[in-house]
Amino acid sequence: MRQKIVAGNWKCNTNLQEGVELAKAVDTLVANEGADDVVVVLGTPFTHITKVVETVNTDRIGVAAQNCAAEAKGAYTGEVSAEMVKSTGAEYVILGHSERREYYGETSETLNKKVALALENGLTPIYCCGEALEIREAGTQNEFVKKQLDETVFQLSANDFKKIVIAYEPIWAIGTGVTASSEQAQEIHAFIRSAIAEKFGNEIAEETSILYGGSCKPTNAKELFANKDVDGGLIGGAALKAEDFIGIINGF
Ligand code: 13P
Repeated sequence: MRQKIVAGNWKCNTNLQEGVELAKAVDTLVANEGADDVVVVLGTPFTHITKVVETVNTDRIGVAAQNCAAEAKGAYTGEVSAEMVKSTGAEYVILGHSERREYYGETSETLNKKVALALENGLTPIYCCGEALEIREAGTQNEFVKKQLDETVFQLSANDFKKIVIAYEPIWAIGTGVTASSEQAQEIHAFIRSAIAEKFGNEIAEETSILYGGSCKPTNAKELFANKDVDGGLIGGAALKAEDFIGIINGF
């Protein structure tokens, strides 16, 4: 079912104690004033997941990893498998973030393996796509994003595609303070939904949650979320302050 989702991506921020404090603060605010129809997710560093799962009310807040290994298990020093993530109580995994594509060389091929393992292990992938500034300036963002999807999650069966969440994150808006305008967000979200419809049919397209990410804040969330094809947000910087995060959750 198409859900309203606000997911925090803490990236490489907070030590364990700070992360637990943040999770506690979010948990309290969500319990007291969080809109009931919004699914709330915390994407924490791997080291924090188990503690955060213990700290929050998991009937109300889901926990996400920010990555998982492209292999199921074995001699891959430093990797954390989808099965390991699932065994912590996490329910989601953020995959294909532009920072991982750019700084860690993640390709469509690697991402296909990660998505498959996430799904096999019952995790919900929050699959990111989005273009760089040069592409936006050239006006070819739709083609670029379509190619990212064609090479990866559009290869899934319809049954598997139904289990994923899409996050559109224009790279030029990430951590820059520049947000896509409400019109720009709606336009490309509608395009993504139409591409899903073309590939998997209208019913699946209507049921897919498509989140916006990139300098989303309490002050702009309302306008972004008011668009009919924007089903929530993937939040970086503003997810590190419980008050800002709840402001975004209540932006619907
Ligand atoms: P900011 O909200 O800090 O721009 O980050 C967005 C993001 O990359 C979430 O995954």
